[in-house]
Amino acid sequence: DESGAGMMTSSLMAAGSPAHGELTELRFPAGFWWGAATASYQIEGATDEDGRTPCIWDTFAATEGKVVNGDSGAGATEHYFRYRDDVALMASLGLNAYRFSVAWPRIRPRGGDRSNPAGIAFYDKLVDELLGKGIKPVATLYHWDLPQELEDAGGWTNRDTAHRFGDYAADVAAALGDRIELWCTLNEPWCSAFLGYGSGAHAPGRTNHADSLAAAHHLLLAHGLGTAAIRASGKDANISLAINAGVVRAFSDDPADLDAARRIDGMLNRIFLDPIFKGAYPQDVLADTAQTSDWSFVREGDLEIIGAPIDGLGLNYYQPDLVSAANPPRDDPHGPYPTGDRVTWHRAEGPRTDMDWPIDPSGLEEILLRIKRDYGDIALYITENGAAFPDKVVDGQVQDTERIDFLHRHLVAAHQALQAGANLRGYFVWSLLDNFEWALGYGKRFGIIHVDYETQVRTLKQSAHWYRDVIASGGVPR
Ligand code: NOJ
Repeated sequence: DESGAGMMTSSLMAAGSPAHGELTELRFPAGFWWGAATASYQIEGATDEDGRTPCIWDTFAATEGKVVNGDSGAGATEHYFRYRDDVALMASLGLNAYRFSVAWPRIRPRGGDRSNPAGIAFYDKLVDELLGKGIKPVATLYHWDLPQELEDAGGWTNRDTAHRFGDYAADVAAALGDRIELWCTLNEPWCSAFLGYGSGAHAPGRTNHADSLAAAHHLLLAHGLGTAAIRASGKDANISLAINAGVVRAFSDDPADLDAARRIDGMLNRIFLDPIFKGAYPQDVLADTAQTSDWSFVREGDLEIIGAPIDGLGLNYYQPDLVSAANPPRDDPHGPYPTGDRVTWHRAEGPRTDMDWPIDPSGLEEILLRIKRDYGDIALYITENGAAFPDKVVDGQVQDTERIDFLHRHLVAAHQALQAGANLRGYFVWSLLDNFEWALGYGKRFGIIHVDYETQVRTLKQSAHWYRDVIASGGVPR
């Protein structure tokens, strides 16, 4: 019966037979972590609650002209009070992992020696709430909220800050170590060092290139001391850190441009990755910065602490850099980098996000494979990836098709890296919620969930619904 056969074929097609599914979907491995990420200062609010004391971002935000619109993290998304509802939203999306950060000044008020049970209690409850919904807790220990008193004592330019971090990490590991699936000691130490102490665009807003190098080293030392403290807690720990490693492209094949790309790659990637995975600073980075600093802050034994084995690496990926040699050569006193990095940044062609960042997923595949090639087959997590767009709620809906396209294309790139052998274990969208975007305030919306800051109403954007379907199917269309 001709029409019967025809019907069967078309109904199989419509139902999406397994063969059809294989053709249209890029599947991720079983057990892949599908997550979303946030950070304490960006979402919690409640900055005076339960013994928390100010951090450098409270101070910076209170300083005229530092944050757009005078915004601060004081209210944020009130996650501190709404965490149960927020975890319920995560569960409704089917997330199996959630990356949050612990606020140092909640655990160790004033950066002191005393550990604060009320501060720990919040994360204790959060972690149990997550586990109750089958969501793996991934905890970052330093996502930029340094207790102000430690900054007053020199901040990351002071070696003692790294030791204080180790003590604070020990508190958190003792309290939560039995339940954390993955630790990130630091988040984007590049930003803390070079935006915090170099360009001054981030808190604490200092602008001294020698200080930014000392800060980078002490942040790395903090990572090493924090790692040791977590290991010493006696719990079986999975330790990583999240860095904004990226692809640095040269504007042309001119040797001067290639050299500019090498220098920026040194300051963005290798200054962090080499000590951690090879136990040494790159020679060219030391040479490039020799006029700025004698690096005397590096002490005997530091690199052994920094280079202690870890279990994974987190990559926060947003965009590649495109650089050429500055012509004529000049130093940029207001740029993030020490003298010697005389480069010009270029605007790549093509679409951009609301941050004015170019959209280029190929850089994600490239950096994942490069880490494997240069540093070995370590477990990799995309600990952040996402985009800001000027989203609006219209009739209860947020049609963020550009974000869906962004996430889709980056997941395709991640899948390509997996096919090519990258040891990629998970992906975290930045961000779960719209939040306080640092010096740019609340105007830049990265969430897959919209937040109305007047009412604190959460609205799932179209991208959240899309991500839920991706997670449910375990893959993305080609
Ligand atoms: C990286 C940072 O870790 C995060 O805090 C920030 O909001 C996003 N990039 C977007 O800029």
